[in-house]
Amino acid sequence: MADQDTKDAVYVTDKLIAEDINAYLESHEHKTMLRFITCGSVDDGKSTLIGRLLYDSKMIFEDQLDALQADSKKVGTQGQEIDFALLVDGLAAEREQGITIDVAYRFFNTEKRKFIVADCPGHEQYTRNMVTGASTADLAVILIDARKGVLVQTRRHSYLCHLIGIKNIVLAVNKMDLVDYDPAVFDAIVKDYTEFAHSIGIDSFTALPISGFKGDNITTLSAKTPWYKGPTLVEHLEKVEVLSSVDSDKPFRLPVQWVNRPNLDFRGFSGLIATGSVKPGDKIRVLPSGKTSTIGKVVTFDGDLDEAVAGQSVTVTFADEIDCSRGSVISTADNPPQTADQFEATFVWMADEAMVPGRAYWLKLGTQQVSATVQEPKYTVNVNTMDRMAAKTLELNAIGVAELTTDKAVVFEPYEQNRTLGGFILIDKMTNATVAAGMINFSLRRSQNVHWQALDIGRKQRADLKNQKPAVLWFTGLSGSGKSTIANLVEKKLFRMNRHTFLLDGDNVRHGLNKDLGFTEADRIENIRRVGEVAKLMTDSGLIVITAFISPFQAERDMVRGMLPEGEFIEVFIDTPLRVAESRDVKGLYKKARAGELKNFTGIDSPYEAPRNPELRIDTQAITAEEAADLIIDRLLGDA
Ligand code: ADX
Repeated sequence: MADQDTKDAVYVTDKLIAEDINAYLESHEHKTMLRFITCGSVDDGKSTLIGRLLYDSKMIFEDQLDALQADSKKVGTQGQEIDFALLVDGLAAEREQGITIDVAYRFFNTEKRKFIVADCPGHEQYTRNMVTGASTADLAVILIDARKGVLVQTRRHSYLCHLIGIKNIVLAVNKMDLVDYDPAVFDAIVKDYTEFAHSIGIDSFTALPISGFKGDNITTLSAKTPWYKGPTLVEHLEKVEVLSSVDSDKPFRLPVQWVNRPNLDFRGFSGLIATGSVKPGDKIRVLPSGKTSTIGKVVTFDGDLDEAVAGQSVTVTFADEIDCSRGSVISTADNPPQTADQFEATFVWMADEAMVPGRAYWLKLGTQQVSATVQEPKYTVNVNTMDRMAAKTLELNAIGVAELTTDKAVVFEPYEQNRTLGGFILIDKMTNATVAAGMINFSLRRSQNVHWQALDIGRKQRADLKNQKPAVLWFTGLSGSGKSTIANLVEKKLFRMNRHTFLLDGDNVRHGLNKDLGFTEADRIENIRRVGEVAKLMTDSGLIVITAFISPFQAERDMVRGMLPEGEFIEVFIDTPLRVAESRDVKGLYKKARAGELKNFTGIDSPYEAPRNPELRIDTQAITAEEAADLIIDRLLGDA
């Protein structure tokens, strides 16, 4: 299809490159970058459309070509005639090979802008890949086959793009050539989509009739659709406002990545400006401390700046020496973000292992990293029908809403307002794998209204009065391993030594505080969480606490360890092999479990994770309970 405008543009560019390479680079440098995502299956013509955009813009980069040529030997190099059909075949083949891996990113340029297209697989099992591709996009092109209209998949993709916060939606009604460019077909699809879009909260979108294959309305208005007045797809992509310029108008937020202190005279705070702008002399506030100061300098690699805006990496200095470190957020003084430790959030679960309610995960939000637990979901969303469903957990690719608690206050804004301070990921503490992407909807009011009471008598005073160092002796091991027996001996010995102690024992606590809990994974986690909190309160009151719980999971033992000051948590592994514990079977429970009368029994049909790095390991086959108790007391008091 003849395309005079683009040809002219390419000609001007070529001329510039030939005559004034510096001017070319300069003009190139100041182009804005639009990131967008294309949604739709291969059948909807996604590869053809992307091929068309690359082809018409003549911007096939060498590295892309290498990959493409591997599939399709005949694709030309930049400047040569490229065979369009072969290019599309190459793209499709590459897409299919990479389909399970992740998202393919493609680059092209027009005279006005640079573009990055995230090409994501469309099936439901790749929801997480689509979310990854959408998370940095300014715009989404939702492709529809004009012959098929709005499909389940169109709805799913639109919903995900909207959920991720993409404000610019383009409805590209493709393959118009196959419906004779009939405006009635186009109108019916737009009407249909409008209804759906409104139902999920998409207020506006731009609809275009196109043919990726024939090139209609891609770079020039097609003579075949005289009823369509524009814009063309490329015109639209060139004009749409990119996120960084929208973000520049918001209040100033700079999540601090690192503190720069090359010498005693210079103390700078570096990071990428998430929103807003900053100038020397601006009044700022550092969160979460709330301390205020004034900006001294705004420094970059290219020297000091009069102003810096969203999307720029800078180092700022303050007029006063106030506390500020990695994870802090620098903001305008009069309009700071909030801090909270309890939230409602929307999650996209990305791991094969389902979410475990109550388990502690690492949460990364901007430059902040804290420990966080997720409650049972309030609901999950069926991404094909948008129906809300009850659920106990979040499985791979599930989207759900749940409450989230962090162990420290987090500086945040709702995702709606700020993707950087509202979006987070969860990381499994054992495997370090990213298990979820999340978006903060709002903080829970209770987290802001329950303030910490500053008390005059603290843990130090209480411990001093008892003349001892508080600690938690955390016993872990199979049922019947000897935890209670040894714990009881330890407490008696300490008592005789005038130590103030308290023994928390599994069976006893489960009669009172935790009588509502059973033995599912979630209940055991909650059991340990509560016991951990109680043990912490007791150490605050100056006691030496001994706990005897199976506590089968490393993650929760580590969680309790993290709740206490360094060195106060002593993990004691009562190491008795299953065979031995089972042969003792003091309570007759193993027999019942083997007979199938007792479900989820530790060691039989519920796992036990032996401690990786306990402070003490007691081999109950090698030493007596008395000897074990002495060893433990030596370890406890050895450094007292
Ligand atoms: S934990 O796993 O949540 O730490 P906890 O130590 O509180 O367990 O309770 C374990 C005790 O509960 C066992 O010693 C046993 O007497 C009893 N029990 C009853 N059912 C089970 C079960 N399914 N698995 C393990 N222990 C059980």
